[in-house]
Amino acid sequence: MYDVEKIRADFPILARQFGTHQNVYLDSAASAQKPLCVVETLTRVYLQSYANVHRGMYPLAEEMTAEYEKARRIVQGFINAKSANEVVFTRNATESINLVASSWAETFLSPDDEILVSEAEHHANLVPWQRVCEKKGCRLKVFKIGDDGSFLPEEYEKLLTEKTKLVAITAMSNVLGTIFPIKQMTQKAHAIGAKVLVDACQFAVHRQIDVLDLDADFLAFSGHKTYGPAGIGVLYAKSEILNKMPPYQCGGDMVDKVTYQHTTFAEPPARFEAGTPSMVDAIGLGAALEYMQNLGLKDITAHEESLVRYMFEKTSEIKGFKHIGTAPDKGGVFSFAVENIHPQDLAYVLGKEGVAIRIGHHCAEPLVERMGYTSLARASFGLYTNHSDIDAFVKAVEKAQRFF
Ligand code: ALA
Repeated sequence: MYDVEKIRADFPILARQFGTHQNVYLDSAASAQKPLCVVETLTRVYLQSYANVHRGMYPLAEEMTAEYEKARRIVQGFINAKSANEVVFTRNATESINLVASSWAETFLSPDDEILVSEAEHHANLVPWQRVCEKKGCRLKVFKIGDDGSFLPEEYEKLLTEKTKLVAITAMSNVLGTIFPIKQMTQKAHAIGAKVLVDACQFAVHRQIDVLDLDADFLAFSGHKTYGPAGIGVLYAKSEILNKMPPYQCGGDMVDKVTYQHTTFAEPPARFEAGTPSMVDAIGLGAALEYMQNLGLKDITAHEESLVRYMFEKTSEIKGFKHIGTAPDKGGVFSFAVENIHPQDLAYVLGKEGVAIRIGHHCAEPLVERMGYTSLARASFGLYTNHSDIDAFVKAVEKAQRFF
């Protein structure tokens, strides 16, 4: 039984007050709050187990290496990868995608090859591909989504051709909340020989990831959104692909043999983890993913689905409130506009009421413009969001309407 009030007790920050107002944190899509077990893990490691990984032979160093590699196996289990060697620790999803762009795409793509993305991409899954296209003479194609933010299979399939070498898609839009049918999209892409990279930053928070079932070639997500520390991210890549990729950055820990003239490189994942990694954060991420697993991804999703229904129901009572992104398959990310109130003014009033939302283009400027706006307000849920948060949000929006 999913007991959200008990879960909230694991997040002391949710009990903070701003003046007389309770902290209503509706900005989890930007970054999620951390449960005690994650903070305690970081503290424990720094106070009791800290040393560099993969280097020392003394007990602390061995303990630290073991914990770091255990975290890799937790990630492996979380995404159902075949091997922990398919899990590369990075700084965040942005770095994971840039790694694939610099290493795989720049090595294996040729002039006239095409990269296909959707209109719903975050800058992190758009700009790196623009750069690859500029450097390699490839073409970037963008398939349309519906006006409600939904996936349109015919638009996708129309642009999928024998020239497509990579499909780079979000599994869940950080602006619209749309969940994309990755498994079906991957089947279509593989049928014409393209590889598929999945930006799972938002998806990882709200739905179970199964890379084997999705048959994704690459998948990226960030630790700070899955209740882990900031500064740690994950790149998953199938081992047959990862093994052929050249290093992304060079330095310590990613080498096999170095001479003044020549260097040979370590096997993955070490080949892609140059320098001292964010090792404590990786261990903290392991604690966060175990926390999610203990709650149960299915139950997290079911709780969120009830909140999504409640959000639609309650906001339908607000005059002049418009949802941007109403695709049938949608997670707890709500962009919206309120008639006659600029998002900045709205965020200011909501902030004064203790309600945290994000405004702007959400690092997806072309998408926000495609939806007809230059700036949008966004409320987003985490596994600790409850119905009272939505009530407080609605009350604060109505207060802003009275104010302006
Ligand atoms: N990508 C994050 C967001 O959507 C930062 O807010």
